[in-house]
Amino acid sequence: MKFFIDTANLNDIKEAKDLGILDGVTTNPSLMAKEKITGKSAIFAHYKAICDIVEDGDVSAEVIATDFDGIIKEGLELAKISDNIVVKVPMIKDGIKAISWFTANDIRTNCTLVFSAGQAILAAKAGATYLSPFVGRVDDITWDGIQLIEEIAGIYSMQGYMTEILAASIRTPLHIVQAAKAGADVVTCPLSSIMGLLNHPLTDIGLQKFLEDHNKGNK
Ligand code: E4P
Repeated sequence: MKFFIDTANLNDIKEAKDLGILDGVTTNPSLMAKEKITGKSAIFAHYKAICDIVEDGDVSAEVIATDFDGIIKEGLELAKISDNIVVKVPMIKDGIKAISWFTANDIRTNCTLVFSAGQAILAAKAGATYLSPFVGRVDDITWDGIQLIEEIAGIYSMQGYMTEILAASIRTPLHIVQAAKAGADVVTCPLSSIMGLLNHPLTDIGLQKFLEDHNKGNK
């Protein structure tokens, strides 16, 4: 399973990159706004900075347009920033039409705001490179986001669809483990969830004991 970080914060991206486990970055308009990156030229420069940090990883950059012509125009501009860019397109009618167009023109896409297996089938038929079902937001309305990943993984495997399942809206380290078990190809999560995978009290207790014993014998 690939690890993407879900942020536009350059320090968090650098920290994940330094761990040596980073395969890419996902952003969205809310994450860009959180970093106070506004205006087309600043947003494009920020994407370039992200691409430079991840080097050979994929970077999802989301279009703002919601009509076919607008999505194509923006997507082409975003794709020109760097080879790392994957154009992130919302799961709407013109979005699916645009994903089909991008697929035919060798431009990679991430179909976002996915909440059902039916939407997942449409995106795969259009040739999306990645599909982003939002696990946490499904959980927020007391449905089961991980079950959705499992359902889509079953369909994609049975039908031989090549689209990679990118479990998004991940909120906890447990979500990461569950997404891996459910068959996600990629997980995108905040740095806190990635770091949370490190924690186990028995690791801390064991390490403390090893160091104490070493120090006793090496006085
Ligand atoms: C990623 O591609 C999504 O934009 C993101 O994971 C959404 O996460 P949220 O539900 O925590 O905002």
